[in-house]
Amino acid sequence: MKTEELISTAAALMAGDKGLLAMDESIGTCNKRFEEAGIPQTIEYRRAYRELIVTTPNLGNCLSGAILFDETIYQSTKKGVLFIDILKKAGIIPGIKVDEGTVNMANFPGEKITEGIDGLRQRLEKYYDLGARFAKWRAVITISGETPTKGSIEANMHLLARYAALCQENGIVPIVEPEVLMDGDHSLKKCKKVTEKTLKILFKELEKQKVDLRGVILKPNMILPGLKSAKQAGIDKVAKATVTTLLKCVPPTVPGIAFLSGGQSPELATAHLNAMHVKYKGKLPWALTFSFARAIQQPAMDIWRGEDKNVKAAQKLLFERASLDNAARRGEYTPDMEKK
Ligand code: 13P
Repeated sequence: MKTEELISTAAALMAGDKGLLAMDESIGTCNKRFEEAGIPQTIEYRRAYRELIVTTPNLGNCLSGAILFDETIYQSTKKGVLFIDILKKAGIIPGIKVDEGTVNMANFPGEKITEGIDGLRQRLEKYYDLGARFAKWRAVITISGETPTKGSIEANMHLLARYAALCQENGIVPIVEPEVLMDGDHSLKKCKKVTEKTLKILFKELEKQKVDLRGVILKPNMILPGLKSAKQAGIDKVAKATVTTLLKCVPPTVPGIAFLSGGQSPELATAHLNAMHVKYKGKLPWALTFSFARAIQQPAMDIWRGEDKNVKAAQKLLFERASLDNAARRGEYTPDMEKK
């Protein structure tokens, strides 16, 4: 196993106050976001949008890594420079989403299982040759009256562990993403309980599959009430619930944790990360950063609207959002920094 390479890639991904940008929306998800923003849903618009992101000036000051989608990893700027080369030149490590999305899980109504394990070894070899040095696999856990079930959590965490083992075999750092969804009206307490159970099973599975935790990044949800919950939680409460759960479940050998945003507004996602650093400075055994998609991209996508004349303004918003997340990682973010 390429242990040294894995450890040094993971360290580089977690360096300083930087974080990751998830720009790995599948064709379906990207088109859905485009439709909501009034942008035509074509391969050329998806390419142009990703060009806007990777050519954002000084993005490498904020990001250590960017997660690409299969379609994007082969794409280039209008001038013909591969996105992956632009990222590398900016000092941003290219990563790749390797799961193939979720489908209904047989025998488990209302629950999902992630596809993509067949042929994964060959795909990882190809992505490594293209320059990807880390990968992502997302499992989703749904909270409702009857879910999640133990059977569904175990099957999903087993797949995450198998994926992680294959990544490490190929010198690729696996980001393991067990996302407890925010959909629903459940309480923060319920999210905490489900996340704790999920993470405990995940680390048991990683151990069983002999995954080297020194070369793994965890991408969890923050502990939040459901989006439809009547009782929303304050920023400090979310920070405390999230960090105490992670301290309980994530071994100190893991070099880093990078949160998904999961449907939170950009401002709240940043404020939550900041509060964790303010409250727990010096008490965390792993690096704690961001791996947001919507919470970094949404303002930029909304202003771009598919028009060339808006590219500069969109890039400015993207850079500002990522910089605010850097400030949050230093515990230096304040809401008045949002004011232009
Ligand atoms: P969000 O930050 O939009 O939740 O996306 C993160 C991600 O990569 C989901 O897989």
